[in-house]
Amino acid sequence: MRKKVSIVGAGNVGATTAHWLAAKELADVVLVDVVEGIPQGKALDLFEALPVEGSDVSVTGSNEYGPTEGSDIVVITAGFPRKPGMSRDDLVRANAEIVGTATREAIERSPGSILIVVTNPLDAMCEVARRVSGFERERVLGMTGVLDSARFRTFIAIELGVSVENVNAFVLGGHGDQMVPLPRYSTVAGIPITELMDEATIARLVDRTAKGGGEIVNLLKAGSAYYAPGRSIVEMIDAILKDKHKILPCAVYLNGEYGIRDLFIGVPCQLGSAGLEKVIEIRLTQEESAALRASADAVAALVKALP
Ligand code: NAI
Ligand code: 2OP
Repeated sequence: MRKKVSIVGAGNVGATTAHWLAAKELADVVLVDVVEGIPQGKALDLFEALPVEGSDVSVTGSNEYGPTEGSDIVVITAGFPRKPGMSRDDLVRANAEIVGTATREAIERSPGSILIVVTNPLDAMCEVARRVSGFERERVLGMTGVLDSARFRTFIAIELGVSVENVNAFVLGGHGDQMVPLPRYSTVAGIPITELMDEATIARLVDRTAKGGGEIVNLLKAGSAYYAPGRSIVEMIDAILKDKHKILPCAVYLNGEYGIRDLFIGVPCQLGSAGLEKVIEIRLTQEESAALRASADAVAALVKALP
């Protein structure tokens, strides 16, 4: 039987995720949104593309959660996007209510599912989904690091004029301006970028990565990024549905790893069919640890602001 992925929120990120998922023939897709006609219309349009694409999955849209029943994975993108001048933190109260409802409704029909939270502010919304679902930490994941690393990889590839396929990068921490890109662990064909670029260039790329979400918001004016976020969500889904044991940076609830407890923070995670299999701990310098701690403090402040 085909796998089933439900996506709550059929806006830019939700619909783009559905697009990548269907094109890759990974799972049947259900889109849910509160706006009448939007999930149905986008789902039908996408479904009608699949004979051309050559993909035998179904795509359906609904304003109800009934069709999500028995989902293997539920992706939560419902909420308000960030507008120019608005920080991710401003979103916390408005989106907590939406994510709480989406979680409650989804897990009632799919109690065995894995939740992938996307709505911002990401790390705090993961905590909402964890509290409401009562799921163990293996089944509540936040999408942040795959996107943030993809941005860092893009900027490194542009700077050095090399294939993006040669570039690997790691970004830790919360999904906010205080995220922690790690140049020492970011490589081009296995060579650390610290061997290939001077400190000032790396600092410029790190800064652009940390502000990557805002850069897109400022260009789009109405709304935020969705192509790279959608593809990043599908990378996590692919690792889970194919039981790949793949290491990807994700936001997970830490139990003391990296000296952080009871908070969702982006760290390297091994993903497989059960969701989180393992948090990979890497040795950090004093400076990197301090940056991660500062990022965790910013997440803790947001969690405190939860209603
Ligand atoms: P969007 O505005 O295009 O879509 C949001 C959708 O959620 C809308 O269609 C809206 O009708 C729907 N919605 C609102 N309340 C709902 C409810 N109670 N139930 C079901 N659907 C509901 O926004 P976009 O661009 O898709 O972004 C979605 C969220 O993802 C935002 O919070 C954004 O900040 C976040 N985001 C997070 C990223 C990450 O790296 N974690 C990357 C990109 C976006
Ligand atoms: C991003 O990083 C808005 O969080 C979103 O693009």
